[in-house]
Amino acid sequence: MNVSIIGSGNVAWHFAKFFYRRGHRITHIYNRTEQHGRALAAIVDAQFCPNLDNLALSAVDLLVIAVNDDSIPEVVQKLTPEDHTIVVHTSGATPMSILSRCKRYGVIYPPQTIRKDVDSPMAEIPFAIEGSNENVTDILLGIMQEIAPKSFRCNSEQRLALHVASVFANNFSNALYQVAYEMLERQGLDFELLRPIIFETAKNVQNNVPQAVQTGPAARNDKNTINKHLQLLSDNDEVRKIYQQLTSFLIKRRHNT
Ligand SMILES: NC(=O)c1ccc[n+]([C@@H]2O[C@H](COP(=O)([O-])OP(=O)(O)OC[C@H]3O[C@@H](n4cnc5c(N)ncnc54)[C@H](OP(=O)(O)O)[C@@H]3O)[C@@H](O)[C@H]2O)c1
Repeated sequence: MNVSIIGSGNVAWHFAKFFYRRGHRITHIYNRTEQHGRALAAIVDAQFCPNLDNLALSAVDLLVIAVNDDSIPEVVQKLTPEDHTIVVHTSGATPMSILSRCKRYGVIYPPQTIRKDVDSPMAEIPFAIEGSNENVTDILLGIMQEIAPKSFRCNSEQRLALHVASVFANNFSNALYQVAYEMLERQGLDFELLRPIIFETAKNVQNNVPQAVQTGPAARNDKNTINKHLQLLSDNDEVRKIYQQLTSFLIKRRHNT
């Protein structure tokens, strides 16, 4: 299959290499900043295209738009894809309809943190697949399941929910790791001390519903300990509020089960 990629950031980088290594031909890489685009094009034996208006799409089966969400509309406006080309974006929160000026379009959304400088286990990702019609969805699903078997069909509402859920599971938990990091740092302690517990929690939810493996003072409704913690946090109003909110959330959950 002939694939062209727009973008050379985190997702474009890994998508291009993934498709290439799995035997697809990367025909073109377009990128706003030439240096980034040329670097990726060289890795995947593709032609670098400096201008979107000149992107030759006649032989392209799949065109992947992997630019930041805000720039997708601007990029789409400049495209004149052939009727047979399927144009997709890779965003979790951008409606698929943003591509509706194309004849065949869809979404290939990876619910995973993808960074250019870090190896990404792309074949393990459950890509969320959406197509402009059943036929397009089937084609995209077929392409993706061959190289990433956990890929699955979803609708726009499910994709947005998956995106929000990823923010809770990934971005928010990571922000809380930073709170913990700073708390330890203030006491001259190393974050290394928490790495085993972080690992254990992530391991526990691999085979359990998170609520079933919840521990800690809030899960036990241990008011004495909670008060001691709040006292310790009295000099940091922002973090204290987060602690209070999460604690009351957990206590309520505990009483509802
Ligand atoms: N990274 C993730 O973990 C992740 C996970 C799931 C989904 N996604 C989605 O994947 C898409 C790409 O994300 P990313 O993390 O790869 O972004 P990124 O690393 O920030 O890369 C953004 C790319 O967009 C290009 N770009 C920015 N503004 C542009 C404009 N006005 N016109 C044309 N190109 C422009 C940049 O070009 P320059 O090189 O010129 O800056 C760069 O190639 C987004 O829709 C995002 O929501 C990302």
